[in-house]
Amino acid sequence: MLNSKIVGTGHYVPDNVVKNKDLESVMETSDDWIVERTGIHERRHIVLGGEDTTSTMGTKAAKMALKNANLQPDDIDFIIFATLSPDYYFPGPGVLVQEQLGMKSEIGALDVRNQCSGFIYGLSVADQFIKTGMYTNVLVIGSEVHSGGLDMTTRGRGVSVIFGDGAGAVVMQAIDNNKTGVLSSHLHSEGKHAEELSLISPSTTDWVPNFIERNDPEDIRYYPYMNGNFVFKNAVVRFQQVIMEALNHNGYKPEEIDMLIPHQANLRISQFIQKQMNLPDSKIFNNIQKYGNTTAASIPIALSEAVAEGRIKEGDLLCLAAFGSGFTWAAALIRW
Ligand code: ACO
Repeated sequence: MLNSKIVGTGHYVPDNVVKNKDLESVMETSDDWIVERTGIHERRHIVLGGEDTTSTMGTKAAKMALKNANLQPDDIDFIIFATLSPDYYFPGPGVLVQEQLGMKSEIGALDVRNQCSGFIYGLSVADQFIKTGMYTNVLVIGSEVHSGGLDMTTRGRGVSVIFGDGAGAVVMQAIDNNKTGVLSSHLHSEGKHAEELSLISPSTTDWVPNFIERNDPEDIRYYPYMNGNFVFKNAVVRFQQVIMEALNHNGYKPEEIDMLIPHQANLRISQFIQKQMNLPDSKIFNNIQKYGNTTAASIPIALSEAVAEGRIKEGDLLCLAAFGSGFTWAAALIRW
């Protein structure tokens, strides 16, 4: 039976480091507040107008994943790109990566819009395409540029201190073996909370001319909105539910997890899940301290770093889990 296996991982983050102290000069905040509430010490921001964009960062991460998989761009037969911050309103960045990688073949490129859960949603699509025999090598990318769209004033501090820029990628390959690779993936959503973590305008329900006509500087619907407490409370419940669903589906117990990589939403959320699952520090990977929350990029960046640091060994049981805007949440269980 065909199964899908991650055969290469990669990541890329911009050079520009923004420390909590740097934020103190543009808004009323403090290193202590940010570290205590989120665990974040610094994050990366692209330089506006520079060469880094959502697609180019995704391409750099993809090149590293391809190199680690020992494959060339034209060995890939499908691209999946997850982001909430595409280069353009349309088309999505999947086709831009195809061009930037210099692919000669006219393979398909799919864009995924599931925010923090986007990478796991993308991985599950790749897994199904591979299991049915449709594709052999699928590139899955998560990349975000948050920095340019944040309200970097005291008004926006509850959101803007959390998010950072970066990209991660994996190459998934068909293997003829059902003992290793992706064991299962589990996807959920609850659309009644769509606006609790959202960016509403400009959009097809509120076009740019409406903004111009209103001419109201206090109308900040073009900045991300987050009901922080509500998101936090839902996240800690949904993370645990979906991890348990993945474990139960495969007949495993929490203590059998070798490595949990949660979406890097907030260190306090990750620590809460770690405690619920009774996992030692060695079985959870966090890097939000240095990158902030990079939404669809956070899991593939963390996975790439965990692999590079030798924290995941062959045969390990790896669990990926995410929760975010939508609300959407998801988990994947992988035998490495
Ligand atoms: N610096 C200093 N003070 C701040 C800041 C800041 N950056 N942001 C908010 N405050 C102030 C508030 O104005 C408020 O002041 P007040 O009491 O005078 O009104 C006070 O701090 C407390 O604000 P709260 O929003 O209630 O703080 P809370 O303890 O809830 O922490 C936080 C806020 C960190 C956002 C928290 O709610 C949280 O982590 N929520 C989950 C959010 C999250 O993880 N989102 C990402 C997951 S989903 C995804 O990845 C898309």
